[in-house]
Amino acid sequence: MLTHKGDKSGIRSDFISDYDDLADQWWDPRGPLAPLGWIARARAGFIPVAGHEQARLLDIACGGGLFGPHAAGKGYRVFGVDLSEMSLREALRHGFDEVVRADIARLPFDDESFDVVTAGQCLEHVPDPFGVVAEACRVLRPGGTLVVDTIADTKVARLVSITLAENVPLPGRPPRGTHDHRLFVNRERLTGVAREHGVELELLGLRPRLREMARYAAGRLEEVRMVRTKSTSVLYLGVGIKK
Ligand SMILES: C[S@@+](CC[C@H](N)C(=O)[O-])C[C@H]1O[C@@H](n2cnc3c(N)ncnc32)[C@H](O)[C@@H]1O
Repeated sequence: MLTHKGDKSGIRSDFISDYDDLADQWWDPRGPLAPLGWIARARAGFIPVAGHEQARLLDIACGGGLFGPHAAGKGYRVFGVDLSEMSLREALRHGFDEVVRADIARLPFDDESFDVVTAGQCLEHVPDPFGVVAEACRVLRPGGTLVVDTIADTKVARLVSITLAENVPLPGRPPRGTHDHRLFVNRERLTGVAREHGVELELLGLRPRLREMARYAAGRLEEVRMVRTKSTSVLYLGVGIKK
């Protein structure tokens, strides 16, 4: 059963908070989680090649490990943390070296113990995304790279990411209740918290290539590439180095 946040939390009653039930769909290229794979590929483009033999990368809320194949070959020992046990099993099958079941609000890792920390498409699923960013910065070593991507707290993001994405019947459509717009993440506050914790984030927008989206929808393509946009008002990515 999918579990949902109760009304008392103020979160949409159908908001998905448990990915165990979706765990067998992580790797379906036309399934409801497919766009996460497209974003994972784009995220990986911001990860430097490891600078030493013991380099460690932590993927926060790694889910079924869609980032794993893209991290492979960069030279890191790849760690994942997530609450969904079933998803973590998938991650181990797809390039993750070690996984831990834990709440990303309190990462079970030492200070400054990772060379790269990524947090893809998870900040908009937790009640305190800024606490997660602070934790990400805490476990990142000075000189290490932080990459986060999430959804902006704007009306246009609500329209695109919920009204359209969850309702237009196309392959790759996320299940209804995937997002609650009240959890979408304020860009100024995100960069402010990262700065307080030593990371100056550069923000950029991302969107799927529209021509490829059309071919994907028509069944003529299995994956859609993401392109950068100047506007960060829907899907956006932040990248920075810790001082
Ligand atoms: C939209 S998926 C993104 C997964 C992965 N980062 C990706 O981009 O493919 C959100 C993930 O966040 C995880 N998650 C949500 N809240 C969490 C929490 N408090 N602690 C750990 N994981 C959490 C879910 O289990 C799910 O795997």
